[in-house]
Amino acid sequence: MSSNAQNKVIPQHIAIIMDGNGRWAKLHKKTRIEGHKQGALQVRKVLEGAKKLGVKYLTLYAFSSENWNRPKVEVEALMYLLEASIKTYKKEFLKNKIRFETIGDISTLPVRCQKAITDIKQATADFKDQTLILALNYGSRDEITRAVRQIAEKSSTGVINPREISWQTIAEHLDTSSLPDPDLIIRTSGEIRLSNYLMLQSAYAEFYFTDVNWPDFDEAELEKAVAEFSRRERRYGMTSEQLEK
Ligand code: FPP
Repeated sequence: MSSNAQNKVIPQHIAIIMDGNGRWAKLHKKTRIEGHKQGALQVRKVLEGAKKLGVKYLTLYAFSSENWNRPKVEVEALMYLLEASIKTYKKEFLKNKIRFETIGDISTLPVRCQKAITDIKQATADFKDQTLILALNYGSRDEITRAVRQIAEKSSTGVINPREISWQTIAEHLDTSSLPDPDLIIRTSGEIRLSNYLMLQSAYAEFYFTDVNWPDFDEAELEKAVAEFSRRERRYGMTSEQLEK
């Protein structure tokens, strides 16, 4: 966390559940796919807003491990949109020095998406000021399952001593091993649940829920969320009095 010019406490890492594309589309008499397209355009605005506020890490839930269960035509459209968006991001991220990362198991995404992802990751790997992380085929239960498999494998070959496994060992095997925990989790569209998103990493995160659908969530809405975050007291299990010392 850091403070900006107005002395507001700025979260270092914001993670967003971009919900409500379908409802936005229905309200505007458009198809669900048009809703997702509008949602994809909104990413740029929010990324810009995050940059102005000084937020270093922005993680977006773009496709969950359960989203494969959606109608085939919608999954295909989302994959197409993902590939097209990443190709567009590449030029912009190089210009604005933004690093691109992913969490989730991308090995089951269409090969053309995987190629675009590898390409942009390599091209932006050295940028340090701002990082956009897309959660793709991501779910916390899948993530912890993969981590446990790796730790078990290393234990069975003697690389890890099971008695020395700590939270740190587990954190190092999560997809987020190189990222700080999210300080603020935002979910749009009025739903109040976590939906298998960053469940371990959000242990001490603040939560912000808004009725605004994702395609209407803009810089001003992000500022509102950060202002609310700024008013919260994060105690990490301690008392207010301890924090004042
Ligand atoms: C939730 O809205 C949104 C998704 C499942 C996908 C999020 C995808 C995007 C914002 C577009 C692609 C993004 C990138 C970064 C290329 P919903 O469909 O569940 O909405 P509903 O609950 O109103 O039906």
